[in-house]
Amino acid sequence: MAEYGISTFSICGEDRDTYYGHVNSLLDMKPTITMDDGADVVSTLHTERTELLEYVKGGSEETTTGVIRLRSMAEGGDLRYPIIAVNDAMTKHLFDNRFGTGQSTVDGIIRATNVLIAGKQFVVGGFGMCGRGVAMRADGMGANVIVCEVDPLRALEAAMEGYRVLPMAEAAQVGDIFVTVTGDTSVIRAEHMEQMKDGVMLANAGHFDVEVDLEDLAAMADGPRQIRDSLQEYTLSDGRRIYVLGEGRLVNLAAAEGHPASVMDMSFANQALCSEYLTQNAGEMDVNVHTVPEAIDREIARLKLAAMGIEIDELTQQQIDYLSGWRLGT
Ligand SMILES: NC(=O)c1ccc[n+]([C@@H]2O[C@H](COP(=O)([O-])OP(=O)(O)OC[C@H]3O[C@@H](n4cnc5c(N)ncnc54)[C@H](O)[C@@H]3O)[C@@H](O)[C@H]2O)c1
Repeated sequence: MAEYGISTFSICGEDRDTYYGHVNSLLDMKPTITMDDGADVVSTLHTERTELLEYVKGGSEETTTGVIRLRSMAEGGDLRYPIIAVNDAMTKHLFDNRFGTGQSTVDGIIRATNVLIAGKQFVVGGFGMCGRGVAMRADGMGANVIVCEVDPLRALEAAMEGYRVLPMAEAAQVGDIFVTVTGDTSVIRAEHMEQMKDGVMLANAGHFDVEVDLEDLAAMADGPRQIRDSLQEYTLSDGRRIYVLGEGRLVNLAAAEGHPASVMDMSFANQALCSEYLTQNAGEMDVNVHTVPEAIDREIARLKLAAMGIEIDELTQQQIDYLSGWRLGT
């Protein structure tokens, strides 16, 4: 970043106060476009730094949780400038969330523990785009995947993919490795930890550090004892041990290197092209959360295919007529 002359406010292992100190240093630069990942910049701007709102034309948001927060701001009438939900682009969530999180989460678990995935009872909390990626990769490595969901459609999809679907209270009794990818809070909490076997591993790849309730764990167990980088051991009063990876933060970032560049390229292409779009069009956009223009999404897919050296078919004129007209019968 220094080479490109880009101011960067970040250190590895920052605590909450340092993190928000960095958010504020960034805002001191009076941004005209915000490009956020989790909506903390936007929410700080709308609560503590409202004097800077007049400079901002528009913004974009990278991830599922941020989009949920921003939609709730828009519904409550609190959002003050238009946002493009990059996460909702096909070329983002179908690839970054699924293939990126799938691979890098399993990578993080392996780097933190060196555990053999094959034969393990591997519990995935949340079967959204990230959850299906994690489940798919764990399945491919020979784990017995168990999915926990709250949405009947997603649970049904998981069941028909061939995964075992259980409530967390039951999965807690049989799981060896647990990964949360819900965007929700306290998905694994005291009532579940009380049921767990000796030696289980808990990891989160969803939102921040809120999905595994570490306050509950600290209250019911001794520890943590640092076992390896990114691996801590808690011991319950009856001697059972629970291992927490990456302090419950995103395990793919804490213990591995995040997503490979060759999937983030599509996410960041969305961010870059949406910034250009906002610069040109923000003035005419409603103050709301918008989807990525379809032309941008399709162009990124086209460019990615070209970069991968993959060619595809084109519709013939006869096929275009067939698909667009209702007069042609079967
Ligand atoms: N680790 C990473 O690099 C990375 C990358 C992309 C997204 N994310 C984050 O991962 C999270 C999930 O993203 P997604 O795109 O898969 O979201 P999604 O909305 O597609 O899926 C989330 C799923 O979790 C389920 N869920 C919610 N609460 C639950 C609970 N208490 N128990 C079980 N299931 C529950 C929902 O029904 C939904 O199916 C978000 O917080 C997102 O920001 C992380």
